[in-house]
Amino acid sequence: MDVLQAIRARRAVRAFTDEALDRPTVQVLVDAAVQAPSAMNLQPWTFLVALGRERVADIARRAKAHLVASLDTGPGLLRRTDMLHDPHFDILYGAPALIVVYAAVSDAPAALVRPDQDCCLAAQNLMLAARAMNLGSCWIGFARPWLDLPATKDEFGLSAEHVAVAPIVVGYPQAWPDATARHTPRIVWCD
Ligand SMILES: Cc1cc2nc3c(=O)[nH]c(=O)nc-3n(C[C@H](O)[C@H](O)[C@H](O)COP(=O)(O)O)c2cc1C
Repeated sequence: MDVLQAIRARRAVRAFTDEALDRPTVQVLVDAAVQAPSAMNLQPWTFLVALGRERVADIARRAKAHLVASLDTGPGLLRRTDMLHDPHFDILYGAPALIVVYAAVSDAPAALVRPDQDCCLAAQNLMLAARAMNLGSCWIGFARPWLDLPATKDEFGLSAEHVAVAPIVVGYPQAWPDATARHTPRIVWCD
């Protein structure tokens, strides 16, 4: 599968088979992620990898509880409230792996360097590599607030200078979802 095929065939996958992911497989994904460009080649990423359904489910439960508890202060999330109050809704979809791209704050001037941007590029590389390996992935914004708490970072041995950017669940898909429609892009030609 070439890169254009992977771009077109990637989908947000929210249902996974029972097959586990091992460390060598995750290593291939991370190796692809770090081929992303980064400002001043600072490569500001750190990857937190949770492997195994029970470990991921524990994170899902805690991250969801935090999200539900903070709904009042997050008006943008209100339209998802019903889903989040459903006790059966698993924000990490029973995935066998969760990879979180954290950005490390740097001393470089903020006008030149935005570590979170670099980490988004790494995250997209990771998701495209996953697709090429027939692995499904889904970026889970719902998990980010809990993953960014000082207490959570401390628990995982990450210093306070780390910022949670991209929580991505990965696993073997039960099926590939249909493509979602894209708006016609607005292009301002300057030729
Ligand atoms: C920043 C970001 C946050 C997202 N958060 C969630 C999420 O919390 N839960 C979820 O199920 N999907 C989440 N998604 C996946 C999007 O819903 C999905 O990419 C979008 O609907 C387009 O579908 P596609 O990826 O299959 O093209 C997120 C995607 C991005 C880029």
